[in-house]
Amino acid sequence: MKLRTLIGCSVLGSLALTAVHAQAQSASGMPHLEKRGALTQLIVDGKPFIILGGQVGNPTGFPDRMQRAWPKFKALNANAIEYPIYWEQIEPEEGKFDFSGVDQIIKGLRSQGLRAIPLWFGTWKNGAMDYVPAWVKTDTKRFPRVLDYGGRPIRVLSPHGQATLEADRKAFTELMKHIKEIDSNDHTVILMQVENESGVLGSPRDYSPESNKLFNGPVPDKLVKALKKEPGTWKAVFGPRAEEMFTGYYLSTYINEVARAGKQAYPLPMYVNVWMGGEGTNDRFLEFDRPGDSYPSGGPQSHMIDLWKATAPDIDVIGPDIYHQSPIIYRTILSHYSRPDNPLYVVETGGGTMFARFCFYALGEFSAIGFCPYGMDAGPGEELAPGFTDMAANFRVLKTALPVIADLQAKGKLQAAVEEEFIPGRMLYFDNYDILVRFRPPVRSSGQPLTASGPLAPSGRVLVGQLGADEFLIAGFDAALEFKPTLGSEFTGVQGLLIEEGVYENGVWKPTYLRNGNITDGGLVLRSQGILIKAKLLRY
Ligand code: DGJ
Repeated sequence: MKLRTLIGCSVLGSLALTAVHAQAQSASGMPHLEKRGALTQLIVDGKPFIILGGQVGNPTGFPDRMQRAWPKFKALNANAIEYPIYWEQIEPEEGKFDFSGVDQIIKGLRSQGLRAIPLWFGTWKNGAMDYVPAWVKTDTKRFPRVLDYGGRPIRVLSPHGQATLEADRKAFTELMKHIKEIDSNDHTVILMQVENESGVLGSPRDYSPESNKLFNGPVPDKLVKALKKEPGTWKAVFGPRAEEMFTGYYLSTYINEVARAGKQAYPLPMYVNVWMGGEGTNDRFLEFDRPGDSYPSGGPQSHMIDLWKATAPDIDVIGPDIYHQSPIIYRTILSHYSRPDNPLYVVETGGGTMFARFCFYALGEFSAIGFCPYGMDAGPGEELAPGFTDMAANFRVLKTALPVIADLQAKGKLQAAVEEEFIPGRMLYFDNYDILVRFRPPVRSSGQPLTASGPLAPSGRVLVGQLGADEFLIAGFDAALEFKPTLGSEFTGVQGLLIEEGVYENGVWKPTYLRNGNITDGGLVLRSQGILIKAKLLRY
C-alpha cells in the first residue's frame, strides 16, 4: 500500500528548544541544541560542544574494524566519530534485533574518551537502498521501489511506501530505545544521523500509478502556506521543479516520521546529510545538474532547505557533505547551510590539505557546531593516512581551546582568514584593531600550478577571537598577522605586551613559550606546524 496522505508533523521537535525545555535538558546533561546569543549550539553534559570529528569509511561500522581504527581516531585528535549502523545488520530477520555490535562500538568509543555519532543507513543511502535488509530488498510488493518514467523499477525505495516507512521507523525506534538503555547516563552518543544522503537517484520522482495520482492532485495546503505559494497542482505551483519538490515533500515527511518516532524513544538531536547539487553546488560535473541525474531528487539540497524546514520539524540540522575544492563553492555551501533555523554542521568533507583550511571558515565565519572529514580510517596499519595530516594538525591546535571558541562564536567575536588561490592576504576588522593576515608564501611568482598535493597547495588558515578590548586568541598555520589601531581612532601604533604560545588545560590557559619582538613590522608569524597564541596588545 502506498502512503497517500501527509503524516502529521510534530510542532514540538526541534531546533531551538524553549528555555524551560533547554534548562531541563541541561540539568540532565542530555545532548541538545540550545540558543546561545544569536546562535544555536550543541550542548553536551551542560556545555557547548564543537565536534572536531571524523567519519569512518562505509564498511567500517563493525566492532573489530572500529577497534582497529582507534589509533587513527587518536592520531586525528578527534573528539567524536561518525560511523554507520546498517539496518540489515541490526535486523537481519524481520522483528529480530541484534544490538551486540551497537553496544560494543559505543562502549569502545567511550573507553577511548570519544563521542559517538551513529549514521542510520536505513531506507536511503546515497540516493539508493543498499543497506536495507534482504527481506526488504526482495519483497518488492510490500516495499515498492521507485518506478522510473518508463515504469521500470530502480534500486531506490519509494518514499510513498507505507510498509517501508513502518518497518524503517520500527527498526530506528528499537535502536533509539536500545541506545537510551545503554547510554543515557554517559551521553557517549550525542547526535543521530537519520538515513544517508537521502533522495532518489535515477529518476526525479516515482512514476507508479499511486504516485502519479498524488502528483496530479493539489500541493498540500501546509506546504503551499509554508512556501507562500498560490494553491494548485504540483506542476502549476512549481513548474520545472515540480517533480523534485513533490519527491522532497514525501521524502522529508517520511524521514521526519522516522526521526520523530526515534526521538520519542530517546530525544537526541537528529540531523540529515546532503549529497550536494543544484544552484552551482553540483559535484558531478560530467552530468547535467538535475535532480535524479547528478544528485538524489528530493534531498535537502540548498534550494530545498525551506521545504525541508517546513515538512521535517523533527530534523534539527541539515548538514552538507562538501567535497568541492573550490573556495568559492565551499563557502557558498557553508553560507546556505548556516541559517538562524539551521546551525552549520559539516557532516562530511575531504580530508586533505585543500580541505583543512575550510575548517577555519566553518568555525570562524559560520560558527559551525562541527566539522568531519570522511574516510579518516583509510589505509593499512595504525597510522593515519598521510592525506589527513593537516586536518589532524588543525584539531591538535584547536582542541584545547574549543570551549573558548564556542564562547567567542556565541558572542560574535570570532573571525577567520583563509588562504584562497591567488589571494595573498585578508583584512579582519575587530573593535579597536584592524588585522592584516598575510599567507605563506605571500607572493606566488613561480608560475607553478596550485595542486592539492603540490608544494603550493594553499594552506594558510587562521582563527582570531577577541577576548577583550586589547586581547586576542589566535590559532593558525602558514600566516603572519599585522595589527593596527582601527582607522580613524586616536592611536597610531600597536605593540605587544604579552604574547604567549600555549594551550588550555581544563579551561585554564597554560603558557608554554613567551614571544617578544615587534608584532607590527614582521607580523605575528604562525608557522606550518600550527600554534595557539594569546596576545595582549597596547595601542599608543
Ligand atoms: C558520501 C556518502 O554520504 C558517504 O557515505 C560515502 O559514500 C562518501 N560519499 C564516499 O565519498
